[in-house]
Amino acid sequence: MKVKIEKKSILDIDADVIVVNLFEGVKSPAGVTGIVDKAFNKVISDFVIKKEKFEGKYGEIYKLPLLESGKKIFVVGLGKKEDFSLVKIRNLTVKVIKACKDKKVVSILHGAGVAGLCPQACAQMITEGAISGTYAFDKYKSTKNEVDVKEFIIAEIDNEKFKKAKKGVETGLVVAEAVNRARDLINESSQYLYPETLAQYAVENSGVKTTVYNKKEIEKMGMGAFLAVGQGSVHEPKFIHMEYKPKNAKRKIAIVGKGITFDAGGLDLKPPASMLTMRDDMSGAAAVISTMRAISELKPDVEVHAIVAACENMPSGSAYKPGDVIIAKTGRSIEIDNTDAEGRVTLADALAYAEELKVDEIIDIATLTGACMVALGSVASGIMGNDDKKVKEFIAVGEKAGERYWQMPMYEEYGDTLKSDIADTKNTGGRMGGASAAGIFLSNFIKDTPWIHIDIAGTAFVESTNAEGIKNATGVGVRSLIKYIAG
Ligand code: BES
Ligand code: MG
Ligand code: ZN
Repeated sequence: MKVKIEKKSILDIDADVIVVNLFEGVKSPAGVTGIVDKAFNKVISDFVIKKEKFEGKYGEIYKLPLLESGKKIFVVGLGKKEDFSLVKIRNLTVKVIKACKDKKVVSILHGAGVAGLCPQACAQMITEGAISGTYAFDKYKSTKNEVDVKEFIIAEIDNEKFKKAKKGVETGLVVAEAVNRARDLINESSQYLYPETLAQYAVENSGVKTTVYNKKEIEKMGMGAFLAVGQGSVHEPKFIHMEYKPKNAKRKIAIVGKGITFDAGGLDLKPPASMLTMRDDMSGAAAVISTMRAISELKPDVEVHAIVAACENMPSGSAYKPGDVIIAKTGRSIEIDNTDAEGRVTLADALAYAEELKVDEIIDIATLTGACMVALGSVASGIMGNDDKKVKEFIAVGEKAGERYWQMPMYEEYGDTLKSDIADTKNTGGRMGGASAAGIFLSNFIKDTPWIHIDIAGTAFVESTNAEGIKNATGVGVRSLIKYIAG
């Protein structure tokens, strides 16, 4: 599908569907909706609003057929003005798209009129919604359920708004593609997606220089923790390092994604219901790989390193065992209390590697704890770190990108349960405060680099369709990471 913007009146673009909008309770539409209303004999105010009692409630769409031409006007309900937001623009656009199979659509620039939101941000959200609305993971289905729309055009005649919105469309296209790529990777069957194929994907698709280290090389790098987690699988672990190095970089960031291509739990085997969706345990990896692709296209003045320690957590005769003591890259010894708390063990070495790159900050993103999922559900991702200002900054960026983050505490006491009799730390200490305890565990593998940890266990994969019309992999994190890095 093509998404573009044209500097024309919405009435001068030939399309099958004309999309306008209405805030709740408005009786006589203003702005572009008003112009369309007048052009079609007040059909919106006299018929849709007065006669049909369309109230403009959020998410409602009145589909008005124009008899002579066979075209349609969609009047989209924006809801209450005071509750309006950028995310709503994205979600509404998804709804419109799903009702426009094979159609050519022209849309008003929602949000940039009476609502007074930034035209660039609005256009980006519409573009993201349009692309997201056509997403389907149907490569294994004989009958495809893809919704395709012929063309989606945003009409904006005002010169200033048009210029800003054009940028929004351009960024939106890159971001939306990155999100869909992450979704594809996460949804992929772990039968085909294992460390080697994930690494191959990164080499071919990250858009930047990508180095893959094999098991021997990982051994040489001293990553005893990462290796232990992967040793139960028939698939060799791979360590992936992607680099984007512009000439005049103003800052240096490392993004680290948890890359467990399947988490069976190891010898502490997961019960069936919990294991079912564990191909999603590389959602952090998918997020950083896709973010790199977007970064390679948006070209910000920031040096970015993306790191993935990819392996499978399987039970077998060669698997690491509860009670084992393993030595991480930093020299810190870890007593394995539970083989299912494997993500933090792999991240321990990935974070240590990131710190050696002498970056200004490190962000890790991981489907790390069921505890975080229980605490926040699929509504918000957990976030914490050793630099409160940066954590808060990331939360604010996330809000602009249309993703929610909720800060979890990192009180020292959460670390108490990690004390070990035989090693420097245990990898887990039980169920209580699990998201924070995992955060404390990770913090012990970072010396002094500002660091943010994002737990997407509850948000990466949803089992019922969310507000954006997405089921299964969501691609969470990609939008915020891109915005945090590239602005
Ligand atoms: N990959 C899981 C966390 C997870 C749970 C992700 C649900 C997505 C949805 C992680 O490796 C794990 O198994 N964590 C354990 C830790 C426990 C043993 C301390 C958990 O949360 O149960
Ligand atoms: Mg696990
Ligand atoms: Zn896991």
